[in-house]
Amino acid sequence: MSSADVQREFDVVIFGATGFTGQFVVEEIARVVQKEHGIKWAIAGRNKSKLETVLKQASEVVGNDVTGTSIIIADVADEESLLSMCRLTRMILNCVGPYRFFGEPVVKACVEAGSHHLDISGEPQFIETMQLKYHDAAQKAGCYIISTCGFDSIPADLGVIFTRDVFKGDLNSIEAYLSINTGPEGGSWNYGTYQTAIHSVPHTRDELLFGKKLVSYEVPPPAHKATKRPQLFRGERVGSDWCVHFQGADRSVVQRTQRFNYEQLKERPVQFNPFVRISSTFWLVIIALMTTIFSLLANFSFGRSLLEKYPKIFTLGYFSHEGPTKKQIEGSSFSWHFVGEGYETKIADPDQQHDDKPSKMIETRVCGPEPGYVTTPICLVAAAMTVLKEAEKMPLDGGVLTPGGAFRKTSLRDRLTEAGMKFEKL
Ligand SMILES: NC(=O)c1ccc[n+]([C@@H]2O[C@H](COP(=O)([O-])OP(=O)(O)OC[C@H]3O[C@@H](n4cnc5c(N)ncnc54)[C@H](OP(=O)(O)O)[C@@H]3O)[C@@H](O)[C@H]2O)c1
Repeated sequence: MSSADVQREFDVVIFGATGFTGQFVVEEIARVVQKEHGIKWAIAGRNKSKLETVLKQASEVVGNDVTGTSIIIADVADEESLLSMCRLTRMILNCVGPYRFFGEPVVKACVEAGSHHLDISGEPQFIETMQLKYHDAAQKAGCYIISTCGFDSIPADLGVIFTRDVFKGDLNSIEAYLSINTGPEGGSWNYGTYQTAIHSVPHTRDELLFGKKLVSYEVPPPAHKATKRPQLFRGERVGSDWCVHFQGADRSVVQRTQRFNYEQLKERPVQFNPFVRISSTFWLVIIALMTTIFSLLANFSFGRSLLEKYPKIFTLGYFSHEGPTKKQIEGSSFSWHFVGEGYETKIADPDQQHDDKPSKMIETRVCGPEPGYVTTPICLVAAAMTVLKEAEKMPLDGGVLTPGGAFRKTSLRDRLTEAGMKFEKL
């Protein structure tokens, strides 16, 4: 039995519960524990009265009085407080970001205490550094450290797995096209994600290098390389005006999953290229202009301070300290459209290549409600329940894994479907 599976006072603690996203995660867990009986949970952060307010609000929203839920005080700057928190629980759901600044001490404390750690980061450099530094120790401690358990990158990672599951034959490559849909009130994200994005820009180059180092070519190189797309191209294939390369963590996460499942399960790795759909030339121009200004400023410390000071001005109101309104959240949704290519036949040995060109296509879709504050809590809490209930179906008895590596054999997809996401073959 791993240390994370021994009896502890709590099964799960939500750290960073007072954050914009943390509040929604608390509400999601308050909902889910009504069905998943016997889950002992608590919330944690550095301010007791703010944490009490979180519980009051969650009780009102969910219609279930959770105000008696335990509160733990812990601060990232206080190592002892982190360790004490981690020793009380089998699992931490970490909502304290940017992870580049606050993530590592929490991972370290979890590994030391032998507690599982799930987070919603989308920062490849943080994620891959944790893999390099803590994978062996986490495996020894018998705990799972799983990042990107939110909109980054569960829909994309599990979407690729779903597509290969429903493709009869060998899948060679997938192009994935993301659309974010908003209602009449428009869409918006909270400042926490904006701040994370600002501080990711100066490290983009390191991230590329890191990506190469971890996801190097230790999978058999494909006989037929996927079509290389330019930075900007017409999206006729998926009925959209324009498409650009998706800059988030999804590509590196999916590649790590593909490599891991090749090593562990002898599955043939699938090439993966994600893009974002842009609905019109007007929006393309606006987005290009804003992104250029944002990237230029984010490369300098003065520019970063300016961006942090005026989020609404630099993003035309898309990011703010108030975050999205209830109406904006209710009116938003996302959809990943996967277009796969492969072979009719299957060759059991993944190291053996097909001679002919891919000749069979498949289209699938993963969609769900608003990505940041509805889908992310759904994904994080569903992933948490899966670790608690189905650890015996997970690989290696611990370690730093991607969602697709950790949950390949579990029922996570069913849990997500039950909570409102959809995986479908088109
Ligand atoms: N994967 C996704 O799709 C997705 C979606 C949403 C968010 N996120 C990520 O989640 C993270 C949080 O975003 P957010 O918008 O919720 O941010 P936020 O509202 O600013 O919340 C930050 C949280 O961190 C806590 N915190 C800050 N410093 C701390 C410290 N020293 N010790 C303990 N707690 C500390 C804050 O506590 P106080 O209340 O005490 O200040 C607060 O609870 C970001 O990295 C964001 O990118 C990812």
